Amino acid sequence: MLRASTLTSERLDYQPLRREDLETYVRLRNEASYRQWFYFQDPPTLESAAREIEEMQEKSRREIHLLREAFDSGVYLKETGELIGTVSLNKFHGPEEELEHVEIGYGIGEAYQCRGYATEAAIAAVRWGLMRLRELGAEPILTGSAEHENRASRRVLEKSGFTFVCAKQYVSMYQVIG
Ligand SMILES: CC(C)(COP(=O)(O)OP(=O)(O)OC[C@H]1O[C@@H](n2cnc3c(N)ncnc32)[C@H](O)[C@@H]1OP(=O)(O)O)[C@@H](O)C(=O)NCCC(=O)NCCS
Repeated sequence: MLRASTLTSERLDYQPLRREDLETYVRLRNEASYRQWFYFQDPPTLESAAREIEEMQEKSRREIHLLREAFDSGVYLKETGELIGTVSLNKFHGPEEELEHVEIGYGIGEAYQCRGYATEAAIAAVRWGLMRLRELGAEPILTGSAEHENRASRRVLEKSGFTFVCAKQYVSMYQVIG
């Protein structure tokens, strides 16, 4: 069974978002440092976030296939049990629904940034994601991308073992091979 709690690391717990974290999740997604880079997405409302949480809960009760579905997890502080962010592995499809790559995503709340939490979560997700891809018989490659000016995110990728591949129009592309 594939569960978010399959990820482990020293200071953080990884669990599907809990229903009681709905308001915290919406607040985190509406913070300026998050909106700065996700301006093209509508910020979640309480209603849409509740649906996302339901979906995450549903996925956590069954096996998910990393090449067909996104893996999303809440990032919780072990010490306090508080939700501080999210980490994800998302599939990107090219033409004709062919999988192009599986890409890491993460966000950490402003009150907790610059303490190494995103890097810790990214390292855990990379380790787990590469292992799952190998188990599925797929090439053990994960991709990361960040807007050129998103230096914090690019730094997280570098510290998590990704290497720079190329610069596209808006984003720098990275990958890690297991
Ligand atoms: C990107 C993000 C997840 C980083 O989270 P975090 O927990 O602060 O990350 P870490 O503490 O593990 O590492 C951050 C690194 O970036 C560096 N950094 C932070 N802001 C920076 C800036 N403006 N310019 C250059 N480096 C910066 C930090 O110094 C640190 O590097 P260091 O360890 O070498 O000193 C967080 O800023 C965030 O959630 N941003 C909004 C969402 C987002 O951009 N997600 C990624 C989309 S591609």
